[in-house]
Amino acid sequence: MTQILDPVFEITDEPESLEELLKSVKLLLKYSTKVGHRRKLNNPSTSFDVISLAGEMMTSTTNTNMFTYEIAPVYTLIEGLVLDQMRTMVGWPPSQGDGIFAPGASMANMYAICVARHKFIPSFKNLGMVEQRKDLIVFTTSQCNPSTPRSAAIIGVGLKNVIFVDCNERGQMSVTDLERKIVSSLAAGSLPFFVSATSGSAMLGSFDSLTEIADVCDKYNLWLHVDASHGGGVMFSANHIHLVRGIRRAHSVTWNCHMMMNCTLQCSAILIREKGLLEACNSTCATYLFQQDKHYDVAYDTGDKAIQCGRHNDVYKLWLLWRSKGHTGMSDHVVRLFKMAAVFQEKLKSTPGVCMVLPEMEFVTICFWYVPEKMLKMTLKIPLNMLKFDWLEGNNNNNNYKNINNNDDNDNNNNDWLPTFYKVVINNSATTSRDIDYVINQMKRLADEEVNTLMMMK
Ligand SMILES: Cc1ncc(COP(=O)(O)O)c(C=O)c1O
Repeated sequence: MTQILDPVFEITDEPESLEELLKSVKLLLKYSTKVGHRRKLNNPSTSFDVISLAGEMMTSTTNTNMFTYEIAPVYTLIEGLVLDQMRTMVGWPPSQGDGIFAPGASMANMYAICVARHKFIPSFKNLGMVEQRKDLIVFTTSQCNPSTPRSAAIIGVGLKNVIFVDCNERGQMSVTDLERKIVSSLAAGSLPFFVSATSGSAMLGSFDSLTEIADVCDKYNLWLHVDASHGGGVMFSANHIHLVRGIRRAHSVTWNCHMMMNCTLQCSAILIREKGLLEACNSTCATYLFQQDKHYDVAYDTGDKAIQCGRHNDVYKLWLLWRSKGHTGMSDHVVRLFKMAAVFQEKLKSTPGVCMVLPEMEFVTICFWYVPEKMLKMTLKIPLNMLKFDWLEGNNNNNNYKNINNNDDNDNNNNDWLPTFYKVVINNSATTSRDIDYVINQMKRLADEEVNTLMMMK
């Protein structure tokens, strides 16, 4: 690859002709992963809707920075409207609460933990951590996205203060263990403040039981954050919204619209139930940007809520996409993804050599092991993880190989280790039953080839 691309990557002293530039663009497109392909099934942030692509083009054409209303009047209003719509879907009262679009869910999760800390210890912003005598404690599970412990590390909570609550075999947080761990951290003189639950985990697609977790958070006065990066989309569908039952009791919610909603990258919202906290936590009142004597209501300036200065307009493409489909179209899209995931699961179940990680999937994430038939008959034992071949159309990375226990150096984590398995995520509503047949046949064909090679090596 580098041999092919190196000549066109080069930036020379002299300008390149338009013809040469176009040649290189074609080559780069040829070798880029085709994430919009309907057989590209390995990641929830792959497929995208063309209307949102048009929105992204419009965004780039206007090239507007989001920090003040005067530079982005239209987009600021759209952002306010869309965030309000999203909060209403979560179940919070209309026109209340707060939020902002962040550069990815990892950043959105970090917003949540910062705001929660500000709520618990407002003096932290001014005095910093030296004045903090107690260890601040964050609770999550091994199924969380790594951005949760990373945020805790970045903001000074410390990785050692991230407590991993046990999960059941479906990857859902054990509420009993959560309470037990809160009680023991209180007994140890720490200050538990933040619980991060997941709706649609990256590995198993699991949904934590939010109502029960909210009960525990209320009892001990803890902030409940829901990372619904992937699973947030179920709120469009009356058939599937039960998966996030209780989400309205969260204090903050992360929702990645570049996942299930098929917006182009990146489009991540952090939603906060209490108005004013975001600005109180992050504002530094830069006088050259946020003068208080402007000719309009300065509440429209969103920049001081953000941890960035300049901010990309991520909302326009989402608004355009959402408007083009309406709520009904969004719901149809989500229902279709679930339907195709069920088709995939059924086809896998009738494929010899397949073993499902979970007996029944809950979401659009399907996890399984596959041992080729030929191998089942062989006496030679080959570790499963040697069979790392790319069998999904357009797949050029190994994201399909996941290990449930990604925190095995953490004493708090007692989840059982699972051998590496395959993961498929249905995210493109253009994917058909025939595509699924194709993918499964490819898997079998490539596995057979791999086994033949291994047998020859024997
Ligand atoms: C549950 C969950 N949270 C957070 C993230 C991080 O999202 P981003 O890549 O937008 O930072 C992911 C990514 O897969 C995720 O699945």
